[in-house]
Amino acid sequence: MVPFETHAPRDPQPALAHFAERRARVAATLGEGALVLYGGELRTRSNDTEFRFRPDSDFHYLTGLREPGAVMVLRGGATPQFVLFVRPRDAEAEVWSGRRVGPEGAVARFGADAAHPLGELAEHLPKLLDGVPEVHVPLGRWRALELAVQRAIDHLRRRNRWGETPPDVLRDARTTIGEDRLVKDPAALAALRRAVDISTEAHLAAMRATRPGVFEYQIEALLEYEFRRRGAEGSAYGSIVGGGDNATILHYVDNDAQLRDGQLLLVDAGAEVDLFAADITRTTPVGGRFSLAQRELYDIVLRANRAGIAGAVVGGDIDSIHRTCLRILCEGLAGLGLITGDLDEALKNEAYKRYYMHRTSHWLGADVHDAGYYTLARKPRPLQPGYVLTVEPGLYIPADDETAPPELRGCGIRIEDDVLVHAEGPEVLTWRVPKTIDDIEAVMAGA
Ligand code: GLY
Ligand code: MN
Ligand code: MN
Repeated sequence: MVPFETHAPRDPQPALAHFAERRARVAATLGEGALVLYGGELRTRSNDTEFRFRPDSDFHYLTGLREPGAVMVLRGGATPQFVLFVRPRDAEAEVWSGRRVGPEGAVARFGADAAHPLGELAEHLPKLLDGVPEVHVPLGRWRALELAVQRAIDHLRRRNRWGETPPDVLRDARTTIGEDRLVKDPAALAALRRAVDISTEAHLAAMRATRPGVFEYQIEALLEYEFRRRGAEGSAYGSIVGGGDNATILHYVDNDAQLRDGQLLLVDAGAEVDLFAADITRTTPVGGRFSLAQRELYDIVLRANRAGIAGAVVGGDIDSIHRTCLRILCEGLAGLGLITGDLDEALKNEAYKRYYMHRTSHWLGADVHDAGYYTLARKPRPLQPGYVLTVEPGLYIPADDETAPPELRGCGIRIEDDVLVHAEGPEVLTWRVPKTIDDIEAVMAGA
């Protein structure tokens, strides 16, 4: 039997029109300015072997190009110009380390108005930046790129007597592109939906495979197998598979413990598709049934998750969602006797922080913690249609907390959904991943 027959393969020649649309949108915000981006380079894993290349999100968002060692220049103005610098074709090197698009391919396949070998960047950059009042470049990200821009500016300054004009403002390109990335376009949403669909199947498989005796890494392997075999690039971030008190470590990635009956298992894992990330957390009982105490704790987090999602509306904001969740979590903690005294006081003095120490939401997109400002002029940014955010409240009871009921010590619960804001209200993209106690127990029992 071929285990892959039901899954459409990834399109080896993906449509590129949406990258041109993105460039047109971003170019329109540049005025007469120019944008210069770098796609990044191979990174060493050990000695002479490298990690698989993953381009810089901003660079890929505007080009669709996945090769290391590429620079793009986008000039604004009445007729925007898109220029790529790429590694030259090299028959011998390509035998060893893979095909290169080359300058000709950059024009023919990636829609560049002009393309040159990367080695000619220093020669062409001054011409491309001549007369441009400001340059948008990711500040502090790529030293070599900033240096190349700086040298081009110096060159133009020296040539000013001959009529050349250097830019004299540098802007952070991450701000420029972050604004565009915040509102997901149709191609971004299609990729996100597919990342969520694949992650949904992976979480279902993980729930079905969870039982006492299994190792966390076996669940991790299953998740990543499902991601890859269904056509995702892989994991969007290091999968967190934490049983028992490992679930109380927020960025637990060791994933090397054996699961025991009576524990809860927290799985935070999401696939990356077309360089867009899903980000999903579910918490399930290793033995298939939640205990009474675990139900009580789970129910608090689920209520917070639902109330947080209800706040993901136009004009709402991430701060209000966080406060809504905090109130519910605090009421729950008070009910369990884990915080005492006045609720408003507990919220103010952050008594909950021992059990809930992270924020409730972040933007989601090409990066799992996506681009775009959260705060504008010191005020939380109002949500708009097309924004995608996570809602991920949790409660983490330290194993050594003697004030907690013994059966809850070392329990970590998080419920994380991905939510798209529409004018009509929130759409929970991750709705198919079971999250009620009944639904989780049914899936684990073989439903
Ligand atoms: N998985 C990272 C996060 O939930 O933010
Ligand atoms: Mn998240
Ligand atoms: Mn997560």
